[in-house]
Amino acid sequence: MSLRAKIFLLLALVYALLLGYLYAVWMPEATRYQVDANRRMQARALATLGEGLTPMVLGGQLGDLYDTLDQMRHDNPEWRAVELIDNRQRRLYPLAGTPLPTAESDDAQHDIALRVGGNAVATLRVTISQAPLLAEIRRAQTALIVALAVAALFVLLLVGLMLEATVRRPVSRLAAASHALAAGEFDAPLPRAGSDEVGELVHSFAHMRDQVRESQQGLRQLAATLEERVQQEVARNREKDHLLIQQSRLASMGEMVHNIAHQWRQPLNALGLLIHNIRDDFEYGALTAASLQQATADAQRLLERMSRTIDDFRDFFRPDREMADFDVGAAVRDALFITEASLRNYNIEVAAEIPDGIVAAGYPSQFSQAVLNLLVNAKEALQQRGPGGRIGVRLAAADGSAVVTVDDDAGGIAPEVLPKVFEPYFTTKEQGSGIGLYMAKMIIEKNMNGSIEASNTPAGARFAISIPLRTTAGDRHG
Ligand SMILES: Nc1ncnc2c1ncn2[C@@H]1O[C@H](COP(=O)(O)OP(=O)(O)OP(=O)(O)O)[C@@H](O)[C@H]1O
Ligand SMILES: [Mg+2]
Repeated sequence: MSLRAKIFLLLALVYALLLGYLYAVWMPEATRYQVDANRRMQARALATLGEGLTPMVLGGQLGDLYDTLDQMRHDNPEWRAVELIDNRQRRLYPLAGTPLPTAESDDAQHDIALRVGGNAVATLRVTISQAPLLAEIRRAQTALIVALAVAALFVLLLVGLMLEATVRRPVSRLAAASHALAAGEFDAPLPRAGSDEVGELVHSFAHMRDQVRESQQGLRQLAATLEERVQQEVARNREKDHLLIQQSRLASMGEMVHNIAHQWRQPLNALGLLIHNIRDDFEYGALTAASLQQATADAQRLLERMSRTIDDFRDFFRPDREMADFDVGAAVRDALFITEASLRNYNIEVAAEIPDGIVAAGYPSQFSQAVLNLLVNAKEALQQRGPGGRIGVRLAAADGSAVVTVDDDAGGIAPEVLPKVFEPYFTTKEQGSGIGLYMAKMIIEKNMNGSIEASNTPAGARFAISIPLRTTAGDRHG
C-alpha cells in the first residue's frame, strides 16, 4: 500500500471516530442533560402556579380558577393536559366528563401538591409534551455537528496536504533517487532539504551518494592503474624471460665453440699436413699434376667436413618456429653431440640408451636445449671431482609419456639445495648464473606440458624429463 493511501486511510479513520463519538456518545448525553434541566425549570414554574391557585381552591372561586387554567393552557400549547383534583379525589378542572388526551411516551407528567399549613388540599397534574423541545435540541445539535464536521474535515485535509508536501513527496523522490543510485546514476534530482527530520534524511542521503561516487571513482582509477601496472609487470617479466633465454643461449654457445674447436682440430691437422706434403713434393720435384689434383681434392673434402660441422651447430641454435612432431631420441642425440667434445676432453664416459621412433609434439630445439643444460650440469659436477666419471642418458616411452633421464656419479645434490635447484638465479657455482635448470623447467612445463624432476641416486644426481607422446593419427612408432 502506498504511503499516500496509508495517510488517507489514517485520516479517514480519525474522522470516522470523531463522527462516531459525536453521534453515539455526545448527542444522547447532551440531550438527556437538557431535557432534565428543562423539567426542573417546568417544575419550579408549576410550583409557583400552584401557590397562586391555592387561595382560589380554598375560597371556592371556581370561575377564576377556570379562567386562570384556561389562560395557562392557551399560553402554553405544549401542555397536553391539565387536571386539578381535590383531596377527596374529585376533579375540579376540567369539568367532570371532559375527556383527557392520552399521554405520549416522551411526555413529562408533573404532580404539584397545593398545601396549606402542611396539608394538601388539592393536586395539580400537568402533562407537558417534550416533542417541541426535543426537536429544538436536535436542530441545535445537528447544526453544531455539521459545523464541527466541516471544521474537522478542513483540519484533516490540511494535515493531509502538509504530510503530502513535507513527507510523502520528498520520501518518494528520495526513493527514486536511491533506485537511480543502485542503477549507477549519480545525478538524479533530490527533494529540497528542510530543517526537519526528512531534510536530515535528504542531507545524509546526499552525503552518502557523494561518498559512493568518490569511492567508485577511486575504484575505477585503481582498476585502470592496476591494469596498467599488471601490463607493465607482464612486459617486464617477458623481457626478463627473454634475457634469460639469451643468457642461456650464450652459455650453450660457449659449449659449441669448444666443440667446434675440438671437431676442427683433426681436419686442421690434416690440412696442415697436406700443405706440408705439397711443399715437400714441390721441393723434391715430385709434384705431378695427378698428385696436386689428389691433394686439392683431399683439402676440399676436409674443408667440406669442417663446413658441415658449422652447419650442424647452426641448426641446433635455430629457434623453433612452431610446434611440430619430432623424434625425441634425435633431439637428445643433438644435445649429446654439442657436449661430446668437452666430455671426451675430461674423460667422462657417456652411457646412452636412446631408441629411435619415440615421437612427441613440441619444440625440438628447445627440448635439446633443456637436455643440454642437464648434461652441462652433470659435466660441471663431475669436473669438480677431478677427471673421469660417468653420465647415463636414457630415453623410454611409458604411460603415454616420453621420459628422458640424465644421471651422473658426482655425489648428488645436497638436501638443503635440492628444493631450490629450479629457482631462477639459484646457483652454488662461483661462475654460475643459476638459470640453466630454470630454463629447462620453463621449456618442459610451460611450452611442452611436461614435467621435470630432480632427485639423488646413491652415486649422484638424477634428472627426469617427461613429455606427452604424440597422440595424433599416423603414428610413426615401430
Ligand atoms: N648434476 C648435478 N649435481 C649436483 N648439483 C647439481 C646438478 N645439477 C644442478 N645442480 C645444482 O643446481 C644448481 C642450479 O643449477 P642451474 O643449472 O640452474 O644453475 P648453474 O648450473 O649453477 O648455473 P648456469 O647453469 O646458469 O650456468 C647448481 O648450482 C647446482 O648446485
Ligand atoms: Mg647449469
